[in-house]
Amino acid sequence: MIYLDNAATAVRKPEQVAKAMVKALQEWGNSSRGVHATSLQAASGIYAARVKIARFFGCRRPDLVAFTSNVTEALNIAINGLIRPGDRVVTTAWEHNSVLRPLYRLQDEQGIRLEIVPADRQGRLDYTVLEELLCSKASAVVCTHASNLTGNVIDLRRIGELAHTNGALLIADCAQTAGTRRVNMDELGIDVLCFTGHKGLMGPQGIGGLCAREGLEWRPFKVGGTGVQSYSRTQPEQMPTVLEAGTLNGPGIAGLSAALDYIESVGLDNIAARERELTWRFYAGVKDVPGIIIYGDFAGEHGPIVTLNVANYDSASAADILAEEFGIAVRAGAHCAPLMHRALGTQEIGAVRFSFSWFTLDEDVDSAIRAVRELAENG
Ligand code: ALA
Repeated sequence: MIYLDNAATAVRKPEQVAKAMVKALQEWGNSSRGVHATSLQAASGIYAARVKIARFFGCRRPDLVAFTSNVTEALNIAINGLIRPGDRVVTTAWEHNSVLRPLYRLQDEQGIRLEIVPADRQGRLDYTVLEELLCSKASAVVCTHASNLTGNVIDLRRIGELAHTNGALLIADCAQTAGTRRVNMDELGIDVLCFTGHKGLMGPQGIGGLCAREGLEWRPFKVGGTGVQSYSRTQPEQMPTVLEAGTLNGPGIAGLSAALDYIESVGLDNIAARERELTWRFYAGVKDVPGIIIYGDFAGEHGPIVTLNVANYDSASAADILAEEFGIAVRAGAHCAPLMHRALGTQEIGAVRFSFSWFTLDEDVDSAIRAVRELAENG
């Protein structure tokens, strides 16, 4: 199987990830719930992971890193924890349902005013609209750093500057950029950076988190046991405990921590450069093939994703043929990005997404190019 669905999840992980998980599974107790060796071992492994994550994303302190089960949970915690009834919130047509659905729910149930920046047929955002909306008393902007459909990267620095000039919070969905490019929350002006462990970071599924700016006033989305202040009726207020009710996913954190060590050992810039090379290799190989429509803007900043349709095939059939006849795994359909598909005009047929990772081989990309060409010829 040639695996080109890394934007959904990276199946190939560094070897040390599984090893670290097994060790944590066999040796770690429950962090912050005891003073015996196994509990302390878990606490120290988890703290070490917070330190690495804070450094990786330019977060000011390790205690401002909270663990979640994935980026969807991190976004739900951030959106529900910081946006208040009646707030005016700006988002974009690029968003995944992990941003849209929590915001729609707040719109329906708490009367937030939601403004959505549109995208054009190439998936480009209108920054003038974004600027106007942010200048008109927005409380927050919630946006993805890169579209999971086109791979286009948003100008987060510009949005961060606009947001802060206008007193709005910036909550960033870094699902597709964490591990595929440098993301520094301080430099970009991000107030809450939400990430998942299982995509570009090459860690396990079931672990993600958020990095927060200091001084935010959280209304915790979930409350419960924390191992501290047990006689208080309310959730402790300090980070990260305020956001971490319940036992943490120790093996997941251990795996993510090992994945970060691996990324540090090979170098994030080398990973980003290699993924860019694979993306452009594939793009160059398919862009002029008659019958192929490619989506997104290849003139701007781009992540390791190329999304297309092959004439006369709907995306699900094309993906089926790629899997069954060519042994190539891709993702078709709507990608949980309904507004983006509407903007691209692909809501009926969906689109076929190819996504690359550090472990993708040149030969994998060349096989995919040959398969797409063959499909187009027969389509
Ligand atoms: N959100 C993931 C994707 O884009 C699952 O495929």
